[in-house]
Amino acid sequence: MDDVDTRTIDIATMPRGGPTASCLDRALQTDRLEYLDRDDVDAATKRSVIRALERTGELFGNHERFAHIALDEVADLPDPRIVELGAGHGGLSARLLEAHPTARLTVTDVEPDSVAAIAAGELGAHPRVTVRVFDATSIDAADDAFDLAVFALAFHHLPPAAAARVIAEGTRVATKLLIIDLPRPPAPLHLLRLATMLPFAPFIPFVHDGVISSLRTYSPSALRALAAHAGADIELRGGLMSPQVAVATRAR
Ligand SMILES: C[S@@+](CC[C@H](N)C(=O)[O-])C[C@H]1O[C@@H](n2cnc3c(N)ncnc32)[C@H](O)[C@@H]1O
Repeated sequence: MDDVDTRTIDIATMPRGGPTASCLDRALQTDRLEYLDRDDVDAATKRSVIRALERTGELFGNHERFAHIALDEVADLPDPRIVELGAGHGGLSARLLEAHPTARLTVTDVEPDSVAAIAAGELGAHPRVTVRVFDATSIDAADDAFDLAVFALAFHHLPPAAAARVIAEGTRVATKLLIIDLPRPPAPLHLLRLATMLPFAPFIPFVHDGVISSLRTYSPSALRALAAHAGADIELRGGLMSPQVAVATRAR
């Protein structure tokens, strides 16, 4: 990536592995949509995927871990204003509220059914919470409305041009945009990961979406190119065996 002039990249066609992705890496991607992103999939299947994400997030401690990563980003602020984009089930926001006594949260998703389910639960009744439908590519909020925007396990849902818009929008409405997503391993390791999941994909909707997520997730060099296209600075952490963490800010 360092050798690539980002001005010459056609962002819409950039491979998920980044501008200089290998042939094998380019083969390990798909335009196929996850059940969650399809209009022709019934609401019950989508709910089953969201419930499975909520449960596995609890089981493996991801909601808790992601909440602490987020709170570290606003550690110097007494009453941080945080927006969760693509919240799905709201598990991460629930942990943020527990861990911070005065943070104010706006919990959002593009999917009205998910937002209605969150609003009908405990989060919807919490005095420090607002629940809204927000499209992360076009956020209905003023510039600098938040200190932090968080987008967890959702960035890979968006093709590159839309993903770049999320970075532009997230860094417009918030001082920092925190993206947490699956790592994109080097291609041979990626093949191995896919091989362990593929046999179950036709039978379990959650695994079906997991395989597609793996094929759609962005590499660090892709994240850098997307941020450059969006006019943002980006700092990357984690990776290989742990979730990728990216913190984007508006370029000064
Ligand atoms: C895999 S789920 C992740 C849910 C939750 N953040 C988690 O960590 O388990 C992806 C979520 O992103 C949401 N999403 C997809 N495109 C979006 C967009 N353009 N704006 C906001 N949310 C979006 C989906 O509706 C879904 O709830």
